[in-house]
Amino acid sequence: MTTDRQISDQRVALVTGGTSGIGLAIAQRLRDDGLRVAVLDLDREEARAVANDAAFLFVGADLSRRADCRAAVDAVTGAFGRLDVLVNNAGFQHIDPIVDFPEDTWDAMLHVMLTAPFLLSKYAWAHLAASGQGRIVNVASIHAQVASPFKSAYISAKHGLIGLTRTQALEGADAGLTANAICPAYVRTPLVTRQIADQARTRGISEADVEQQVMLEPAAIKRLLDPVDVAALASYVVSPAAWGMTGAVLDLDLGWTAR
Ligand SMILES: NC(=O)c1ccc[n+]([C@@H]2O[C@H](COP(=O)([O-])OP(=O)(O)OC[C@H]3O[C@@H](n4cnc5c(N)ncnc54)[C@H](O)[C@@H]3O)[C@@H](O)[C@H]2O)c1
Repeated sequence: MTTDRQISDQRVALVTGGTSGIGLAIAQRLRDDGLRVAVLDLDREEARAVANDAAFLFVGADLSRRADCRAAVDAVTGAFGRLDVLVNNAGFQHIDPIVDFPEDTWDAMLHVMLTAPFLLSKYAWAHLAASGQGRIVNVASIHAQVASPFKSAYISAKHGLIGLTRTQALEGADAGLTANAICPAYVRTPLVTRQIADQARTRGISEADVEQQVMLEPAAIKRLLDPVDVAALASYVVSPAAWGMTGAVLDLDLGWTAR
């Protein structure tokens, strides 16, 4: 039998971009690990449906807006009375050379992938610290460590996220709050499926060739990751056992940076 006391002892996680790809896999894994999970995503019918099906609390928000970041934290702490885990995962890609890169798109990407993780941690900080085992997981990218052409905003935001992670780690340490960054190479998600199709068109080659010759060219293991692979690492980082891991930049990069 489950008592009210047991329910309120369950840790609570907020996963941004939690209705698709890597975010959804992390949200499902944390739910299966026994946490109560809120997913934040753009307020769309399909996102609500995914959250409902998975028994997540849905928080509709646009992370390019500061007020939405504040309202999202208030919604989760209002519903659950606590917040122990923040997973900054939402993101998107735009590919253009710097000379053609739309300024508004640059602003939006920096806001969603760097400013929002700062704002959410700022607004959630007191709750994460009160947890005693608070966890911030920043889903960065292998592109937080290396660059590729035509991805200036993405790469700048992800490199910046590593700096934010390390600062969160130092400031959270006394409260038992850890902050770590996960840096995957290419993962088979809707974001990457769209990129494969775009690149196949632009380069005039098959989608299979985009995967092998473009995306996996720098990798030692020639296979795309699956979202559950990232979720398994997040699960460990969030667990109480990982109390001593903080400020870490965790590569899951198919050997990309081993050279
Ligand atoms: N797929 C990869 O190969 C890969 C590799 C390394 C890192 N990443 C990172 O992982 C994260 C998730 O990527 P994914 O591949 O699962 O992508 P995805 O497109 O499947 O999911 C991204 C989610 O973020 C949400 N989102 C985008 N803009 C938002 C906004 N303004 N407000 C609220 N939500 C917003 C989207 O609605 C979507 O649900 C991203 O930060 C991405 O940079 C992905």
